[in-house]
Amino acid sequence: MEIIPTGQTLGARIEGIDLGEPLPDGNFRTILRALGAHGVLCFSRQTFDVPAFAAFGRRFGDLEINVANLFYAPGFPEVMILSNMQENGKPLGLNDAGQGWHTDMSYSHDVALANVLHCQRVPRRNGKPLGETQFRNMHAAYDDLPDSLKHRLEGRTATHDFAKFWEEMRQRPGSRRLPLTPEQRAKKPPVSQPLFRRHPITDRLVLYANPGYTMFIDGVDPNESGEILDFLFRHQERAEYLYAHHWTEGDVLMWDNIGTVHNAVADYTADEPRYMRRVQVMASLDYPALVA
Ligand code: SIN
Repeated sequence: MEIIPTGQTLGARIEGIDLGEPLPDGNFRTILRALGAHGVLCFSRQTFDVPAFAAFGRRFGDLEINVANLFYAPGFPEVMILSNMQENGKPLGLNDAGQGWHTDMSYSHDVALANVLHCQRVPRRNGKPLGETQFRNMHAAYDDLPDSLKHRLEGRTATHDFAKFWEEMRQRPGSRRLPLTPEQRAKKPPVSQPLFRRHPITDRLVLYANPGYTMFIDGVDPNESGEILDFLFRHQERAEYLYAHHWTEGDVLMWDNIGTVHNAVADYTADEPRYMRRVQVMASLDYPALVA
């Protein structure tokens, strides 16, 4: 197995491994360390089926069954289908997943370590791949905050809410998202998360706030909270924190859901098919012990 960093703020390509084969402990730990170091890992030309894909994800932690999931692989509710494709007039997947800056599961009491996507179809126009996924480096974003703000916000929490992103997406023209049911709301109530969180792999602090789900800073005047969050979200937008993954069929992309925020770019039309399988890996293992 060879790890080839992109040389950018995030990202590495991992060659020489077939993820359909059992993952030896040594490689598992190397991948975990690489996830902390590079944030976004791409394994090219992977051909495994749905059960093997789920098994790969499960090696890194429990797999979440998304609270509002309508589209999943038959028999595998933990494997979501993200797609704009239709069959016999019926949608095959969630067609607008992740289209806005966010961190998956920041709205959940137990947070996620990673997302893993297996790319089946890439939309293309004139041979150029569309539908890239963008990431921003939240280790670097924390490091660069002014010391005065780090001190002011040390120990502070912010409230995150699943309904924020869901409702924003529902308001978009043509959205297929249904209103959340009271049962879905009850399963994922608003939760408080530390604004600065210690990363379980790198043991460094990251800025853990995102425009998709973060509502307000707890215990702070609402105007002040709004101003600080605006500042933090603008700060995250600095060009040097950005990395974009351009997809090829067969890519397995695994990204750190604690040390990055991400955004799926919707620059393709309904006639330009995109199809991804996705698992969300909860941070349910003792990662410090695993990478020690
Ligand atoms: C996601 O936010 O998990 C989806 C990203 C993508 O489809 O590019």
